[in-house]
Amino acid sequence: MKGVNDSRFLRACRREPVDCTPVWFMRQAGRYMEEYRRVRERYSLLEICRTPELAARVTLQPIRRLDLDAAIIFADILLPLQSMGIDFDFSKGEGPVIHNTLRTPNDIRNLEVPHPEEGPVSVFEAIRLVRRELDSKIPLIGFAGAPFTVASYLIEGGYSRRFVNTKMIMYYHPESWHDLMKKLTTMTIQYLQGQVKAGAQAVQLFDSWIGCLCPADYTSFVLPYSKSIFERLRPLGIPTIHFGTGTAALLELMRRAGSDIVGVDWRIGLKEAWRRLGGKVGIQGNLDPVAMLGPRDKLKEKVEQVLEQAEGKVGHIFNLGHGILPETPVENVEAVIEWVKQKSKRTHSVKSRAAKAVSAVGARRKKR
Ligand code: CP3
Repeated sequence: MKGVNDSRFLRACRREPVDCTPVWFMRQAGRYMEEYRRVRERYSLLEICRTPELAARVTLQPIRRLDLDAAIIFADILLPLQSMGIDFDFSKGEGPVIHNTLRTPNDIRNLEVPHPEEGPVSVFEAIRLVRRELDSKIPLIGFAGAPFTVASYLIEGGYSRRFVNTKMIMYYHPESWHDLMKKLTTMTIQYLQGQVKAGAQAVQLFDSWIGCLCPADYTSFVLPYSKSIFERLRPLGIPTIHFGTGTAALLELMRRAGSDIVGVDWRIGLKEAWRRLGGKVGIQGNLDPVAMLGPRDKLKEKVEQVLEQAEGKVGHIFNLGHGILPETPVENVEAVIEWVKQKSKRTHSVKSRAAKAVSAVGARRKKR
C-alpha cells in the first residue's frame, strides 16, 4: 500500500511528478463551513485552539467534506505567545487584540523565551489526535507565524495597515528589534520542532505581512531570522513552506531564506514568480480569495489561469493567495477542487511528454 510519503502533496513538496496538482486552502477550517460555525456557537476561538479534541475535530471538518490533499492543524499564530507572557483575545470581526503590547526597549527586554517544554502542548496533543484519525494518504501541515509578522502583532496590538510602531522600533531601537527577533526565532524553532515531533509532516511559516517592507529592510531586519528557522528545520527532513502576501518585490530574498516551497499571492503571475525564484523551488498559490465569491464562469477562468501559469511544473501546490474568506460558498470550494483535479490531470501531459521524447529520438536518428 502506498503510504503518506507518496501523497500528491508531499511529492509536490519534493518536486516529484504527481498525477494531478495537489490542492488545499489556507484557513480551510473556518467560518465558511457550517460545521465550523456550529462549533463556534458553543466555544470561542481560543477554547477550540486550546482543547485538543475540539482543535482536532475542526481540523478534520474540511477533510471529511472536501477532496483536499492536505490538512492543516487548527491553531493560530498567536497561540504560542501565551507562554511568553503575552495576553491576547480575539475580538469579534476585528481579529486579534494584544493587551500587553511591546512599545519600548524595556518591554522587549522583559519578554520571556519559554522553556522548550513549555510550548502550547495542546497543539502537540491535537496533532497526535489528528494523525490518528487521518487517512494515510492525507498529510498534516503544522505552522507558525514568522518572527516579523508575530512581532508586528505584539508591537501594534493587532492588525495594522501601515506598521508605523513596528518600523519605529526597527529604526529607533535596532538593537531591541534584533533582540525581539532572536527571542521569537528561538520560540518559533522550538514550537515547530515540537509540532514535527508530535506528527506534523510539513510545516508552513506564515510571514503574512512582510510585503510592507522594502527589500533593504527585509534583508537586514527579517531575512536572517527566517533563514535561521529553515536551517534549524532542515535536519528534521520535512518539507517547509514560506508564505507571505505582497511579496512580488521580495521573492529573490525569500528564496535565500531557504524553504522548499514559497507561497505567493495573486498580485504576481506564477510564471513571473517562478522566474524570480529561480526554478529550484516549489510554489504554492495563488488564486485571489475574492474570486471564490464571484460568478462560476469567472472563477473557473481564474482557476485555469493559475494552472496555465504553473505550466504543470513539478512543485506546484494549488492554494489561494491568502486565507479563504468567511463569505465563500462551500459549493465554490468544491468546484475549485474538482476543476483543479480535472484540468491538471497529468495522463495527457505525461503521454505527450513521452510522445515528444519519442519524436525527438526519431528526429535525432533522422539527422544521423
Ligand atoms: O488554515 C487553517 O485552517 C488553520 C487555522 C488558522 C487560523 N489562524 C485560525 C483562525 C491559521 C493557519 C491561522 C494563521 C493566522 N492567524 C495568520 C497567518 C495567516 C493569515 O491569514 O495571514 C494570522 C495573521 C493570524 C492572526 C489572526 N487570527 C487574524 C488576523 C484573525 C482574524 C481574521 C478573521 O478572519 O477574522 C484571526 C482569527 C482566526 N484564526 C480565525 C481562524 C479560523 C477566525 C475565525 C473565528 O473567529 O472563528
